[in-house]
Amino acid sequence: MSVTIKTPEEIEKMRIAGRLGSEVLDYITPFVKAGVSTGEIDRLCHEYMVNVQGCIPAPLNYAPPGYTPYPKSICTSVNHQVCHGVPNEKVILKKGDIVNLDITVIKDGYHGDTSRMFIVGETSIRAKRLCQITYECMWLGIAQVKPGAHLGDIGAAIQKHAEGNGFSVVREFCGHGIGANFHEEPQVLHYGKPGTGIELKPGMIFTIEPMINAGKAAISELPDGWTIVTRDRSLSAQWEHMVLVTETGVEVLTLSAGSPPRPDIVAPYSAQIKP
Ligand code: MF3
Ligand code: CO
Ligand code: CO
Repeated sequence: MSVTIKTPEEIEKMRIAGRLGSEVLDYITPFVKAGVSTGEIDRLCHEYMVNVQGCIPAPLNYAPPGYTPYPKSICTSVNHQVCHGVPNEKVILKKGDIVNLDITVIKDGYHGDTSRMFIVGETSIRAKRLCQITYECMWLGIAQVKPGAHLGDIGAAIQKHAEGNGFSVVREFCGHGIGANFHEEPQVLHYGKPGTGIELKPGMIFTIEPMINAGKAAISELPDGWTIVTRDRSLSAQWEHMVLVTETGVEVLTLSAGSPPRPDIVAPYSAQIKP
């Protein structure tokens, strides 16, 4: 399968799925506090997706080739966990933790995939800076998206900002095309060279979801077969949006009332970013 161009009908369904994914993050925000377990966060999100939104949680039993079925409804990646952290009643959040909550809903057959970082109480200046720079990396990647640009422009912008601030880019996981399938072509690398890779065309939909480490880029997989951690156990952060290539630039599909505002660093690109 190559990169598909979504029809207007599919795009409308992706707007709905994207907003719903983001609204799960809005819903769970007040619960992300010291003393709550990641298992409880998963249970609350599951019930909200199924009973309130009428959505299917895409991660539950998701089993790409070579993986055991994913056992929970969301991913909760705490501190040195990079991605795919498996929620657990025994993992209790404490003051100073940073945690990524990654939500993917299926609504009317289409996927909405988005994640944010949460800070539990107060944390260190370094951890806050990692979360902020990673947020800017995602938005600088989004700001590259327009017809005629290349996939490599996105990765290059992210890599430059991450490494320029003394952080490193995880190589083994990337953004992805998305639609009726959870993961489609293309692979959206978070590092690379401007002008390389496929040319972006209106109607393409993919995620941008940089994983940025405070220490070295290397990762390992835990014995649960899912959770990815930094090899040096340094902190890691990730943010994710789903975007549509439009005739004039980019539309971000995973926004809702509780989405944090765009960072000042992308102000020069405002004209081409919707909404
Ligand atoms: N939501 C993740 C992504 O951004 C994928 C999670 S797969 C799971 O691509 F099975 F771990 F949930
Ligand atoms: Co994704
Ligand atoms: Co995701």
